Amino acid sequence: MRNKNYLMNNIADEIKSKCNIVDVIGRHVTLKKAGVNYKGLCPFHNEKTPSFTVSEEKQRFICFGCGASGDVLSFVQRIQNLSFPEAAEKLAEEYGIEWKSSVFDTEAKRSVYYDINRETATFFYRAFRSKKNPALAYMARRGINDDVLKKFGVGYADGEWDSLRGYLLGKGFEEKLLLELGLVSSSNGKIYDKYRNRVMFPIINARGKIIGFGGRVLDDASPKYLNSSDSRVFKKRDNLYALNVTRQEITKENRVILCEGYMDVISLYRHGVRNVTASLGTALTSEQAAVLKRYTEHVVIAYDSDRAGLAAAERGMDILRDAGCRVKVLRISGAKDPDEYVKAYGKEAFLESVNRAPSLTEYKLAAARERCDISTTEGSLAFLTLAASVLRDLSPVEADVHIRKVADETHVSEGALRREIWGENTVDYRRTAPAPALRTESAAEDSGVSMLERNLLRLMLQSGAYADRIKPYDRVFSSPAAFRIYSAVKAVCDDDGDADMRKLEDVLDRTDMALLSDIRENVRLADKEEEVFAECLVTIRLLSLTGREHEIIRMLTVANDEENKERIETLTRELIDIQREIKEVKGR
Ligand code: GTP
Ligand code: MN
Repeated sequence: MRNKNYLMNNIADEIKSKCNIVDVIGRHVTLKKAGVNYKGLCPFHNEKTPSFTVSEEKQRFICFGCGASGDVLSFVQRIQNLSFPEAAEKLAEEYGIEWKSSVFDTEAKRSVYYDINRETATFFYRAFRSKKNPALAYMARRGINDDVLKKFGVGYADGEWDSLRGYLLGKGFEEKLLLELGLVSSSNGKIYDKYRNRVMFPIINARGKIIGFGGRVLDDASPKYLNSSDSRVFKKRDNLYALNVTRQEITKENRVILCEGYMDVISLYRHGVRNVTASLGTALTSEQAAVLKRYTEHVVIAYDSDRAGLAAAERGMDILRDAGCRVKVLRISGAKDPDEYVKAYGKEAFLESVNRAPSLTEYKLAAARERCDISTTEGSLAFLTLAASVLRDLSPVEADVHIRKVADETHVSEGALRREIWGENTVDYRRTAPAPALRTESAAEDSGVSMLERNLLRLMLQSGAYADRIKPYDRVFSSPAAFRIYSAVKAVCDDDGDADMRKLEDVLDRTDMALLSDIRENVRLADKEEEVFAECLVTIRLLSLTGREHEIIRMLTVANDEENKERIETLTRELIDIQREIKEVKGR
């Protein structure tokens, strides 16, 4: 017990230090600054002139009208009618404070909820297996075979108002808990089964616990789906559908296909595409993205083809990217959603379109292109602006492939595009080298210098002979700072063989010199110059291959099948060759 109190105090202290009482109270009471304190109308009694005072300094509140007083925790407790642990949990969650849930809500306390959910799933499952139930027929009609139905634990909620409730009460579970779990609803004092006449999809977490349910109508009644609301054991934002069944396949394939609906997951699985999941009837959350990232960083968004699906995909892709995932976006065509697509065209066709799915950047550029008519000057400029804002999110190396393409399309120089992306300070040294001497202020865009660039620069500093050998590949210096240093070193080497630091100091500014010293000191060659150079060449080859690979993939995605049959064939052949070569180069 001592231990528990100790932990509780610890968390309370942490909450009090992290949640500013003025912010928290400010959400419920309009506060006005009055001297060092804040004042407002007391939420705990009726008043017309403000006597409710909040001290930011002391992190306490007091009402001179009714005498209420306390700290941030007692405020939340009182205003939301919560227990102390509940208030602590709420604030901790809101402010992202490490929450030792075991302190207040032990797994043991939760287990009764899991028990109830398990009994419920069993109840629905048995009903589904009984003769002559319409849900089984419905799922059969949708083409899902028995093995798969069993795998996902699909069940049936019959049309009665009291069958689940009666069953669970008979097992001795408290009605209050059934209400908390949303298995029954209450209205006008009557308590009745929430799910009736529905196919039931249990939602099971990765540890195999049943945490909630989704239920679909058997006809076109409304609402089409009823989903469990959040409860002690179910937090929608933290969970995804069917990971208990599909997570191994996701790890194995090192890729996950993220859908919108339960039926997409089940249907894809039934057709042999098993690395699938879906968010739970809400927009994708950053928590869900973090969960996926634990299994794989490669995520293919496969949402519905309607406008809602498109909009959801646009939001989801940024959330996934911000979680560190590599995102591709599949646009279903010729069907409403993955379920209908795989049923109509089969597994192979689906996987092919997955493989062809454009990356997030390619997708966004394509979307920007669609919005502008680049045959006109205005449209072209509008596209340029949109493209720049997309490419700004990338590292210079990543952006490079796209920069070439976009510059080509819009007939502007790559340098101009770079300036559009990274600002006026980015001088196009490719064309104006050796301009570095003219620079007056240091640029802030120096962070994105790749390992490859560092290695190449280090080699040039080691021996002037590398300058000539690197020259044919100088377009890999895509970060402005690296290109400036490259140009300067090369100019000095051209003059007299090896790079002389003092001469470099004359042409490079202080930030560039700092970067250069860093490279000279920290990139180790260990007498293996030739090996390092060979490795660089491999990386350069890979960059160029993957650049072309993406280009082809993108062209294939936008190519019109009817008109460009031949072109598509040529591109596809080239793609296959390139992908083979990439494998070979990587395997070396
Ligand atoms: P089917 O018509 O059975 O193929 O449904 P679907 O799997 O294609 O789902 P749909 O694209 O219609 O919806 C995607 C997801 O949104 C579903 O899996 C549900 O989680 C959720 N959803 C759909 N309709 C409703 C609804 O009426 N209410 C709620 N709460 N959620 C819904
Ligand atoms: Mn559907």
